[in-house]
Amino acid sequence: MSTAKKEYKRVTVKSLVEMKQHGQKISMLTAYDYSMAKIVDAANVDVILVGDSASNVMAGHETTLPITLDQMIYHATSVVRAAARALVVVDIPFGSYQGDSKEALRSAIRIMKESGGHAVKVEGGSEIQVSIGRILEAGIPVMGHLGLTPQSIYKFGTYTVRAKEEEEADKLKADAKLLEQIGCFAIVLEKIPAKLAKEVAESVNIPVIGIGAGAGVDGQVLVVHDLLGMTHEFNPRFLRRYMNLYDDMSAAIGQYVNDVKSSDFPNESESY
Ligand code: KIV
Repeated sequence: MSTAKKEYKRVTVKSLVEMKQHGQKISMLTAYDYSMAKIVDAANVDVILVGDSASNVMAGHETTLPITLDQMIYHATSVVRAAARALVVVDIPFGSYQGDSKEALRSAIRIMKESGGHAVKVEGGSEIQVSIGRILEAGIPVMGHLGLTPQSIYKFGTYTVRAKEEEEADKLKADAKLLEQIGCFAIVLEKIPAKLAKEVAESVNIPVIGIGAGAGVDGQVLVVHDLLGMTHEFNPRFLRRYMNLYDDMSAAIGQYVNDVKSSDFPNESESY
């Protein structure tokens, strides 16, 4: 396996498969708005995920369930405008694809047509096989998502590690094979044992991108606000914080308030 790093001017679903074949790890991060996506893209992140975690991070909901298709399209449209290099993958939100494959297709088409995103992501395996199949038949690339699937949080009851028991692990392995077989271009594995994630990554030819799934997969994804330390109350074991922006931003904004109150801001050079 070659570790020579191939440069990509524009990352495509094909590039991701190549990266896996060449043992080149894939970096993926969320973004939900133009300014953040500009920074993420310029840092050469391979995939920008317009995640339905926007429901938590941007809108302040407790779960990802409330976000609507229109809201996802709004976020995706802003991100697409910023992304010059990265592949932009957009989550299809809860309730827009599970029950009816025709609705799934309509939702995916709206995302692609109205936002200009490059691919969609859905949560689940065999249960949503027909919906995925229909979207793929329309020529829309689909990324799968297995393990802890936040849209099913009320079924799980908690955000703890999934697939620790053999039965659930076996279903996850079978689902990963199924997603590859029906034509998904990649799979996200969330919060499952590292050993299982490695086994899954080695069992399929499409890239497997982990979040809380250890180092044996083909790439990693994080929520950008978590990585930057803006969401300081969220502290799962899998999260590496590269900054503590919550504290830095609070201090800066607090200083601004003081400066306004004390008439220190604006000074003469900041005035016309
Ligand atoms: O919505 C999201 O941010 C996600 C990632 C956690 C993979 O699905």
